[in-house]
Amino acid sequence: MKISIIGTGYVGAVTGACLAELGNHVVFVGRNKEKLDLIRSGKSPIYERNLDDLLLKNQERIHATSSIPDAIHQTNSTFICVGTPSNKDGSIDLRQVEDVSSVIGSALCSSPDYHTIVVKSTVLPGTTEELVLPILEHESGKKAYVDFGLATNPEFLKEGTAIEDFFHGDRVIIGANDTNSRSTLQNLYIPLDIPIYSTSIKTAEMIKYTSNAFLATKISFANEIGNLCKKMGIDSYDVFQGVGMDTRIGPHFFRSGIGFGGSCFPKDVQALIAHARAVGEETRILNAVIQTNNEQPGKLINLLKKHVYPAGKTIGILGLAFKPDSDDVRESRAIPIITDLLNEGASVLAYDPVAMENFRPLFPSITYAKTAGEVLKCDTILIVTEWKEFEDLDYKNRIVIDGRRIAKAIDEAAIYEGVCW
Ligand code: UGA
Repeated sequence: MKISIIGTGYVGAVTGACLAELGNHVVFVGRNKEKLDLIRSGKSPIYERNLDDLLLKNQERIHATSSIPDAIHQTNSTFICVGTPSNKDGSIDLRQVEDVSSVIGSALCSSPDYHTIVVKSTVLPGTTEELVLPILEHESGKKAYVDFGLATNPEFLKEGTAIEDFFHGDRVIIGANDTNSRSTLQNLYIPLDIPIYSTSIKTAEMIKYTSNAFLATKISFANEIGNLCKKMGIDSYDVFQGVGMDTRIGPHFFRSGIGFGGSCFPKDVQALIAHARAVGEETRILNAVIQTNNEQPGKLINLLKKHVYPAGKTIGILGLAFKPDSDDVRESRAIPIITDLLNEGASVLAYDPVAMENFRPLFPSITYAKTAGEVLKCDTILIVTEWKEFEDLDYKNRIVIDGRRIAKAIDEAAIYEGVCW
């Protein structure tokens, strides 16, 4: 197939590279010239394991342009992979989706061939049919499901393991209201040998939100139980090891600690809460999920204060990314933790293997270490991201307050506290 990918962020870059690996011709469309040049030269525009290799290997099937109409005229399907950030009140900002839909619509007008538009951006149920579809029809003068195809295909890619998740995911969700659009997407994904579940467009949109909301709920649940375990001298990791052996419950996403960050869980849960409110439903569980998550970083600071008065001290921070194997610092737990430390009058010496450049503009005044070893010169260390290399450090004679559970620190530190264990 010939496919346009609109958006060169995590979802667009990974999806496009993986679809090219499956033998499709892919045209990336983006506004950032540097990112397009990187893609053209077979280099990844984002930090994601093995993405460089995939882009380089499939270079002959990959093109990049800043023009949506150019891309549409060379292809027969278009994936919308633009960002859907949060507004201040937690609701979803759909401006990028609206803007690209409008340009796609006008390009469809002058395109003689049948074209299928696929919304991959995370959008609330109803958005594709009530916002994207009317814009496309209005701008193109054509009829959805008759003159052009329309579908949704939510993504379940985790940063850091996104390529693995694409090729070996648990399922592909296709949301389509007509046979043509459905079979276009089915044919695209059949080579993956992953179960495909096809639904209506609106249901597929809801599956995406429900999945993220449930995973976030699992984490906040693990943290709530973990907080209780901490008070009772129980290790919550042992508890969830036992709990997760029940196949009805499952072992994943029970790692307790300082909570979830990133560009997805906080934003998507807030958007679902705001949407529920708008349609007259109160989401009590999801409200609590966010509240628990917001309070977890404070638990780390409280444990620190049990042992050390932070004012006037330099506290070492290991990890700034919202999770390991990512340079993404959006909603990273390091943000509230460092804010609290600075408010308490402490100085901060921080290290992250790849996320320091992204973090620096947020906290230009703290000191950034060149190596993790340099941070270990502080006598008090906070572990904020569980990078693998932190398992090899020497924690002897140190006070370690751990938000993510690094085994070597548990064994070696002079004083050790885990948030939920
Ligand atoms: C998440 C979902 O896992 C993906 O399925 C989804 O496609 C993606 O959002 C999205 O909507 O685009 P991601 O945010 O990249 O992926 O990373 P996760 O591995 O889910 O981690 C999210 C946050 O939860 C991290 O801060 C992580 O440290 C935290 N977490 C995760 C825990 O605190 N405990 C856990 O047990 C698991």
